[in-house]
Amino acid sequence: MFDSIPVSTTSTDSYTITVGENLMEEVAETLASRFSRSKLFMIIDEKVYRNHSSYIESELEMKFSRITKYVVPSGESNKSMEQFSRIVDFILENGVERSTSLLAVGGGVVGDLAGFVAASVLRGIPLIHLPTTLLAMVDSSIGGKTGVNHEVGKNLIGAFYQPKAVFADVTFLETLPRQEWVNGMSEILKYAMIESPDLFTQLKELTQHNEFASPKEWIPIIKQSADIKVDIVNKDVKESGIREFLNFGHTFAHVIERKGEYGHCSHGEAVFAGMFGAVEASNRTGASISTNDLEYFKPLYNLNLEKIGTDTKELTQLMLRDKKVKDQTIRLILLEEMGKPVVKSFEETKLVEASWNYLISEFT
Ligand SMILES: NC(=O)c1ccc[n+]([C@@H]2O[C@H](COP(=O)([O-])OP(=O)(O)OC[C@H]3O[C@@H](n4cnc5c(N)ncnc54)[C@H](O)[C@@H]3O)[C@@H](O)[C@H]2O)c1
Repeated sequence: MFDSIPVSTTSTDSYTITVGENLMEEVAETLASRFSRSKLFMIIDEKVYRNHSSYIESELEMKFSRITKYVVPSGESNKSMEQFSRIVDFILENGVERSTSLLAVGGGVVGDLAGFVAASVLRGIPLIHLPTTLLAMVDSSIGGKTGVNHEVGKNLIGAFYQPKAVFADVTFLETLPRQEWVNGMSEILKYAMIESPDLFTQLKELTQHNEFASPKEWIPIIKQSADIKVDIVNKDVKESGIREFLNFGHTFAHVIERKGEYGHCSHGEAVFAGMFGAVEASNRTGASISTNDLEYFKPLYNLNLEKIGTDTKELTQLMLRDKKVKDQTIRLILLEEMGKPVVKSFEETKLVEASWNYLISEFT
């Protein structure tokens, strides 16, 4: 069972996102029919390889004479120039032509890293994403942002590079740890806030009694979420306008992550908390939005943010270090009403400090 979403990135360039279960046969067939059959590079997350190697390889081996794989150790620290350089060496030493395709199998870490490799080797070889986390399926595999982290900050080196296809196969989600479901859910909640409040009802059904429904029941919501991201990205491929809406809650989240030195909570948890700050700031600028729909999901997060402290002035100042800051003014994505995002700049910081106060009171 699967469903396809067409994505146009320019008038001449387009690709398809396929969402479904048991897609490996379809993946192998598509790759073999469109790209060189003599060789395939596969860059794969170590945990995904451990859990799913036979499922992946049995289908690919039927179509390709040679599959050259590189297993990436799990974790954000591997989204690095060191790992990038090792993979490029590996590919060049193994022989590569412009028509050799690269299959990226993993979450956002492997997708971003392998995507940047595909963009760079021979100035671009065909890239196919096989996202294996909920977050990667609804967010990171879509939109063409690739790259690695630098010690100065996250995602500071990279390129916009569009894949030739994306296959979101929920079969992989069978082994996804609970924490990673929660992380992906934050981005779906974000889509609910900025675009489609009906997603709240679906998410409630999929997380009844604090349990996650079986992966195949998630297919419709993954498709709808991917559709929303595609729609926003298509209108703003290089992130100069409305793509900023996807940062709803994220300016607060980046500070939460940085203040806790990235150890105390995950990005998804920080985004969840960040959305409370963004709702409060929205209400203080004239909106009237309830946090009830977000509150409902709090038990799944079990989040305590004592570590970020209570110095709202400092937290607000830290927002000015966000890489998306312009002219030293805090820019926040807020809501005029549910599903209606807007960008607002703040020279006066009192309102932002008050929003931090509210966020802290919700999570301590
Ligand atoms: N390019 C973009 O537009 C974009 C958007 C959002 C986030 N990102 C990036 O994505 C990254 C986060 O992605 P993520 O949340 O997928 O993290 P991740 O890639 O680190 O995966 C999370 C964990 O899940 C494991 N895992 C992956 N698939 C699994 C599976 N099917 N079964 C069991 N374990 C599995 C991984 O080994 C890892 O431990 C960050 O680096 C972030 O910057 C990029």
